[in-house]
Amino acid sequence: MSHIAEARTERVTIPTLQRWKEERRRVAMTTAYDAVTARIADPIVDIVLVGDSVGNVCLGFDNTLPVSMAMMNHHLEAVARTRPHALLVADMPFLSFHLSADETLRNAGGFLQRGADAVKLEGGAKRAEMVRALVDCEIPVMGHLGLTPQSINVMGGFKVQGRNADDALRLLDDAHRLQEAGCFALVLEGIPAELAARATESLTIPTIGIGAGPSCSGQVLVFHDVLGLTVGHRPKFVRAYADGFQLLQEALSRWAADVRSGVFPGPRESYRLPEGLGETIASWAPT
Ligand code: KIV
Repeated sequence: MSHIAEARTERVTIPTLQRWKEERRRVAMTTAYDAVTARIADPIVDIVLVGDSVGNVCLGFDNTLPVSMAMMNHHLEAVARTRPHALLVADMPFLSFHLSADETLRNAGGFLQRGADAVKLEGGAKRAEMVRALVDCEIPVMGHLGLTPQSINVMGGFKVQGRNADDALRLLDDAHRLQEAGCFALVLEGIPAELAARATESLTIPTIGIGAGPSCSGQVLVFHDVLGLTVGHRPKFVRAYADGFQLLQEALSRWAADVRSGVFPGPRESYRLPEGLGETIASWAPT
């Protein structure tokens, strides 16, 4: 039996997500970085994120810090061309929302002009003013708290956050400050499950967890992690539903072997001349 969902006919919007929070309906979100990943993900998930994780997942960087607005725009445009029905969120990369309100609005507004429905940005209460400025300009914002990969240098690596009383209480306070500033949802990454549960029950907006336990309003995982396409270290919170890397390599090896043995291409993959033209080209000689 196939588990593949029927293609969506209705678009997921921000009011849809708010309604689902009230109905306690859980949300599935994944990343997409190009038209192929977007077409695979869109009929299945509720939110598609063009994440700045494109830097480490697709572009070969060690982390997300080198990702620029130009890179994000390039990948967002590819995803947006597929006209997804899922809510399309674009990630504000490092330094794209720190320098001034003008630059932040231009960068985020540019994402919406390229087809995003909303933007996501990392950080707590100190980002509240910028969130307010964006929301005032009709740009919906998803917040992102906890293990925020753009703060890797401050955190001293990819470490679970909110494990002592001060940090845990600060996170809860940050979550409420972002909600008051107008965020329509929050990603909670790399925090203890109990802390994510407390944030989720105390907020009116949905929370989307990644390494934040089962009590969030929804879950997000990087597309390549769910499908087993990432090589190297796999964080504890990832569950791969396929060994995509091996599956694809096996298929590619069969094709390469067929090329080398002459089995590919066969008659089905070849074009033929119209009747009679074979003799014409056979009798041709170079002059
Ligand atoms: O960039 C990204 O992919 C993300 C998600 C993992 C939440 O921020």
